Amino acid sequence: MRTKPHKVDSCRVHAQPRRSVREHGPARSGDTAGPPALPCPTGWFCVGPAGDWRPGDVRTVPFAGEDVVVYRTRAGELRAAGAYCPHLGAHLGVGGRVDGELLVCPFHHFAFAPDGTCARTPYGAPPRVGLTLLPVREAHGLVWLWHPFGEQPRWELPELPDIGPRRATATKSIELAGHPQEILENALDYGHLLPMHDNRAEQTAPPQADGPFLRLSVRLWRRIPLIGRFVGHGVLDLTYWGLGALHSHVDFSRYGFHVIGWMLPQPVAPWRTRYRMAATVAATGPLARVDRLLGGLLPRALSRLMVPWFFHDTLADHPIWHHKRYRPHPALTQNDGPIGTYRHWARQFYPDTAPARETPGRGSLRSGGGGE
Ligand code: FES
Ligand SMILES: [Fe+2]
Repeated sequence: MRTKPHKVDSCRVHAQPRRSVREHGPARSGDTAGPPALPCPTGWFCVGPAGDWRPGDVRTVPFAGEDVVVYRTRAGELRAAGAYCPHLGAHLGVGGRVDGELLVCPFHHFAFAPDGTCARTPYGAPPRVGLTLLPVREAHGLVWLWHPFGEQPRWELPELPDIGPRRATATKSIELAGHPQEILENALDYGHLLPMHDNRAEQTAPPQADGPFLRLSVRLWRRIPLIGRFVGHGVLDLTYWGLGALHSHVDFSRYGFHVIGWMLPQPVAPWRTRYRMAATVAATGPLARVDRLLGGLLPRALSRLMVPWFFHDTLADHPIWHHKRYRPHPALTQNDGPIGTYRHWARQFYPDTAPARETPGRGSLRSGGGGE
């Protein structure tokens, strides 16, 4: 029955015609107000770790410029609804509570069933109004919302590679100015790896589009500090799930575990994103048998150890993402990564609907949030 303040992060996705996807402006350099930039894409976006919602928890998630209330019923079902009560407009995330399977509004105590209908009021028959429910999924230890509001999902979140059932996911996030497409482009922008991360990458399998998914493989080398030599880091299999998730699978099964590293940009508002990284660790083989006795302690401990490390890997990118502009016609060289292929594939997430203006507003670069 606990009501929590803004803990998790999140944007309303404005779609606009492809033609009007224009360069993002202005910069702080004194340019005048800019034209619309990339709109918010369609797709699934992670809004936090599933463990943030225990039965009875009600949390407000800012998602694509709107407040969404995500709550878990006493039976454990996760639900997401527009934040404003259909009765007289109270914010359900400010004092709203769960009573059994119902969400109770703080203002006049109207109670709403999991299907969104008003189930009871303290004074008379329930009106024929209901909550605006949003598609929500709990998958891979994460909570996902579909954008845009009012639309049924066009595709579903797939399974991960077969890494075994004994797994745990930990997350860490920061809010910054930026856009999901721009942030996820980073993974195949090979040209920035050496100057920004002292790494090198060689593409071993080019991007293969499969509807909303995009798969590729890269071999990574990391420079050893002081010694200066590059050491091979193995091949990473990367998979995009729309513009809401990119994951890479690292097979450490000879040491008894698998690791999935996630980049999970969540649109909070136009050109404002909570960038979340997650680490999913699964114990396999003999380690899984040991872990059965430990009650899942090993994957939990390893995922919590790894996520700051993953997050640190992209630390240098954050100020670049926060201040950069979107270039719709970048001056690419032959040796840049497959950015053109990626952007061509990404066009499907901007269906031709009513245009909406994106107002760039950088504000501050805020870390943490959501207990992450
Ligand atoms: S505003 Fe929610 S019950 Fe009245
Ligand atoms: Fe990077």
